[in-house]
Amino acid sequence: MKIQVAANYLELSELAAKTVAEQLLGTGKPVLGLATGSTAEGMYARLVEMYRQGILNFDPVVTFNLDEYVGLGPDHPQSYHFYMHRNFFDHVNVRPENIHIPSCYDAREADEICRNYDQEIIKAGGIDLQLLGIGVNGHIGFNEPGRYLQTRTHLVELAAETIQANSRFFNAVDEVPHQAITMGISSIMKAAKILLLASGENKAPAVRDSFSGLVSTSVPASLLQLHQNFTVIADREAASLLGNYRPGP
Ligand code: GLP
Repeated sequence: MKIQVAANYLELSELAAKTVAEQLLGTGKPVLGLATGSTAEGMYARLVEMYRQGILNFDPVVTFNLDEYVGLGPDHPQSYHFYMHRNFFDHVNVRPENIHIPSCYDAREADEICRNYDQEIIKAGGIDLQLLGIGVNGHIGFNEPGRYLQTRTHLVELAAETIQANSRFFNAVDEVPHQAITMGISSIMKAAKILLLASGENKAPAVRDSFSGLVSTSVPASLLQLHQNFTVIADREAASLLGNYRPGP
């Protein structure tokens, strides 16, 4: 694991976009695992800028999003479909047929949708670079803390802290869906490279609990420490409780 501390959110976004750019420039047909959330917005804005400047070409890129709420249509402003189009896909040349976002409007269809999603990732040759945010409770995607974690893409009941944290995007807390589809821990861990972004003081406890050397399913992001090619980019606030801890070799 590598931890990079950025001076501020702008630098974090710049460093993240640089990592994506390097991946794109270095691979023939890159497969990107994409994350939503306010933390990733600066990185997407920078990638759009690099596309407009002619530095990046997204034509050969294949994308798989991490997660989506159950029951929100693609036009719902809080759906992750909407987020991805508004922040990224509408402004770059990713081919629509190369975009994958789990879609489930009826939980009874979830099993088949999840199975197909994992198959699609395998068919695309696996994920080259997986981008992640982190929840205040240490979740990644929507893999919530618990005694057990699911390996594959699955239907999840959202934790109360997650519903509360994400309610800031909705008119009221009872509008937040209680279920989501998320890639599982092994769907994430199979990526060749993983980059997690964390910004702000409210993420500091989750960053400390995830990356200080212990591993537990009660802090899902801590499992990423076991990955061979895993980098965290945290701004100063998010890294503030790490103290002097720096990962060993
Ligand atoms: C949601 C998403 C996660 C994301 C997290 C953090 O819960 N499912 O994938 O990492 O939010 O979002 P933010 O960056 O807005 O704090």
